[in-house]
Amino acid sequence: MSNRQTLTSWKKLKQLAQDKKSQHMNTLFANDVKRFEKFSIELPNMLLDYSKNLIDSETLDCLFELANETKVCDWRTKMFTGVKINKTEDRAVLHTALRRQSDEPLIVDGENVTEQVQNQLAKMEVFVDKVRQGHWLGYSGKRITDIVNIGVGGSNLGPQMVTEALKHYSDGSVNVHYVSNVDGAQIVEVLRPLDPQKVLFIVSSKTFTTTETMTNAKTAMKWLTSSSFDEKSVAKHFVAVTANKKNAMALGIEEHNIFDMWDWVGGRFSLWSAIGLAVALDLGFDKFKELLEGAHEMDQHFIHAPLKDNMPAIMALISVWNTTFLGARSQAILPYDQTLHMFSAYLQQAEMESNGKSVTWDGVEVDYATVPSIWGELGINGQHAFYQYLHQSNNVVPADFIGSVESVTPVSGHHETLMANFFAQTQALMTGVNEQQVRADLKAKGRTADYIDKVAPHKVHKGNRPTNTILLKRIDPKTLGSLIAAYEHKIFVQGIILQICSFDQWGVELGKGLAAEIQEELNNNTISAKHDCSTASLMKFYQNAK
Ligand code: F6P
Repeated sequence: MSNRQTLTSWKKLKQLAQDKKSQHMNTLFANDVKRFEKFSIELPNMLLDYSKNLIDSETLDCLFELANETKVCDWRTKMFTGVKINKTEDRAVLHTALRRQSDEPLIVDGENVTEQVQNQLAKMEVFVDKVRQGHWLGYSGKRITDIVNIGVGGSNLGPQMVTEALKHYSDGSVNVHYVSNVDGAQIVEVLRPLDPQKVLFIVSSKTFTTTETMTNAKTAMKWLTSSSFDEKSVAKHFVAVTANKKNAMALGIEEHNIFDMWDWVGGRFSLWSAIGLAVALDLGFDKFKELLEGAHEMDQHFIHAPLKDNMPAIMALISVWNTTFLGARSQAILPYDQTLHMFSAYLQQAEMESNGKSVTWDGVEVDYATVPSIWGELGINGQHAFYQYLHQSNNVVPADFIGSVESVTPVSGHHETLMANFFAQTQALMTGVNEQQVRADLKAKGRTADYIDKVAPHKVHKGNRPTNTILLKRIDPKTLGSLIAAYEHKIFVQGIILQICSFDQWGVELGKGLAAEIQEELNNNTISAKHDCSTASLMKFYQNAK
């Protein structure tokens, strides 16, 4: 058994959860008109309202006690100071150093991380300016108009999500495209309208061993050289971001075209490094710096705010409460801001690759639910697709609603309609409507008794569905940086409380290894005897049908 369950706060929370399961948030709100005041936090560029959860002051105090008993604050210090808290890989976890606004040295394994980061930022700035101002020329002397980032997972989702979110701030100096899938359909479609003389490829891969990325990079190189008829053109059209310089050079990328990554940055936390190069090229380096500043502001808040006012800590505690104690198994991320249309996909990796585990950092199997599965979609689109399930299924799905006070692209009448739905949904999910109300409503509308009997049960909404509301002032680089960092720290706190190592990802290795073996068999038209009969038969069917 994990030692978490022996903690006083854990045992108390288990009892409180039994109590709370029989309560309705409507009663909690009726009994306490100050719930919003008590259970919300206002920061300079955003507000978190977590009052629409099945909590009261006693629950919350006990959750804070859990954070204390699990030494969240000590772990936080360890993370920020470069202690190797990624235990299974024996690595520091220092994505926060990528956005640190200080010259103070930070030493890991004898290296000054601050200096390493500053050097790379300076290299990025020079490069970004050169490309954007048209001083970096392609093999035929033409300026670069299109950037294609080739990468997958953390080397894709973060930068692409940010590019999409901040489109409004791009001055169009370059067009940015992303290729992540090894399905050739994607790269073919991305490259089709582009002119090889004007394209710059960024091969983003921390390890520079990821098959999908290597395959796409080689295809892109062939595409370029079949136009330039010159291997040397690669130097003008390919840069890499990696912690594995050797492999990047082996692929043909010039050493001076390689930007560094380090083992103390996890892929899913790496958009603040040169992995964000495509973002910087799109927005300009000043805007990229604003993104880093916003994240740094959240880091400062996370370090200094007491737990009871600490946004990421509270987000984590609420998630643990809903999942581990109340039994929710998934969580929806529902942005009501078109710019955040990739945010739930991004958080899927950030949260599920980090905490989707079931042994403690000491390798002991846990017997409590860890992280929920994360899914979501833009709020309005979701309303016309899966909100039926959120409101009336017998599976409770806690949800984060994220909206903005101001739209970056105001169009008369649109934003109010959007936000009216935003506010309506969390209220409806919480209050629901009982049978008595449904019947009275139908009667008032003149419906017959037979009709009312038939329809009333279908119109009942039990409500009591937990939501958090994050209201941003407006999407801009700084605010987005803060929002992402808030979720990063939420994930960190969750991991500490649940006693799991949030910074490794062994679960992706098994399938990867097997795919490499199967690829060889597919290439040789063979099927190894070690496959189960389902897999072997599927492979056979595929090979015969080709
Ligand atoms: O397969 C998962 C993963 O290892 C992620 O953790 C990572 O972000 C992604 O693959 C890409 O890895 P790399 O940047 O090394 O190509």
